[in-house]
Order: sequence, then structure tokens, then C-alpha cells
Amino acid sequence: MDPDPGSSRRCFLKMVGGAGTLAVIPACGAGGASSPESFGDVPAGNVSALSVGSLEAVAGAPAIVGRDATGVYAMTATCTHAGCNMNHQGAINAAGVYCECHGSQFDAQGNRLSGPADSPLQHFAVSIDASGLITVHGGQPVVESTRTAVT
Ligand code: FES
Repeated sequence: MDPDPGSSRRCFLKMVGGAGTLAVIPACGAGGASSPESFGDVPAGNVSALSVGSLEAVAGAPAIVGRDATGVYAMTATCTHAGCNMNHQGAINAAGVYCECHGSQFDAQGNRLSGPADSPLQHFAVSIDASGLITVHGGQPVVESTRTAVT
């Protein structure tokens, strides 16, 4: 299935040619993999509404927020295969993330399970203020094991 051309996918077509030839090839980043769509600081709801074991799309940003026994975490919703925004072209539930563009699957921590994607989902820093409001910091990539404790 082709991705929705109106989405924020990062894969685009690139024209190359020379000496009487012209070709159109997908340009999705090095090795065909796609890097996360950039975003800044975005609100992601109140931690009181994010139960342990849940995984949810962040409204208005290509991000996913989750919570496990050690805290809250966030990761990109940009599929690492060709850049589909899985918040719009996919399915997100407690078990993980599915990309409907070409069928890649990721577990709840963003690790690749199957499909043409060959790398995991990038994680981003999360902060939680005194009232419980979650902010995902899209400009601050972190390692997959990073969690923000819920106090
Ligand atoms: S963009 Fe191809 S599987 Fe997600």
C-alpha cells in the first residue's frame, strides 16, 4: 500500500539522470531508512490518564508516549522504513506499533519485530510537571531505556 501523500512522511522521490537517462528513485535517507520527523516540546496529557502498560499516540505530533513499571517514555511515530507517521497510518496499542504502509511492526519499546523497517524507533526525553502534565521533548533524543519516574 502506498503511504498517504498528504501525510508528513519523509520519504520523497528524487530525480537523477545524466547522459540521456533519467530515473526516479525513492530518497528515504541512508540505506532506505528514515529518521524521525522533527518536533519540539509537545504536551502529551496528564500522567494520571496514562496507566502502567499503556502506549498512546500524542495528539498533534509524530510521537508516541508509553508507561511501564519504571516510568514514562516517548518515542517517534515515524516509521524507520520509509517515514510514514504511524499515528495516522498505523495502529498503536499496549502491545506495540504497526505501520500500515508496508507492514512493519515494533514492540511497545519501539524495537523492530518484523517488516521492512530495519531499525528501532528513536526515543525522546519526557518531563512531568508537579501537576502531572507530560511534555515530550522532540529535540532531545535519549537511549531506549530512559524513563521518567512518576512520583
Ligand atoms: S513506512 Fe514502510 S513499513 Fe512503515
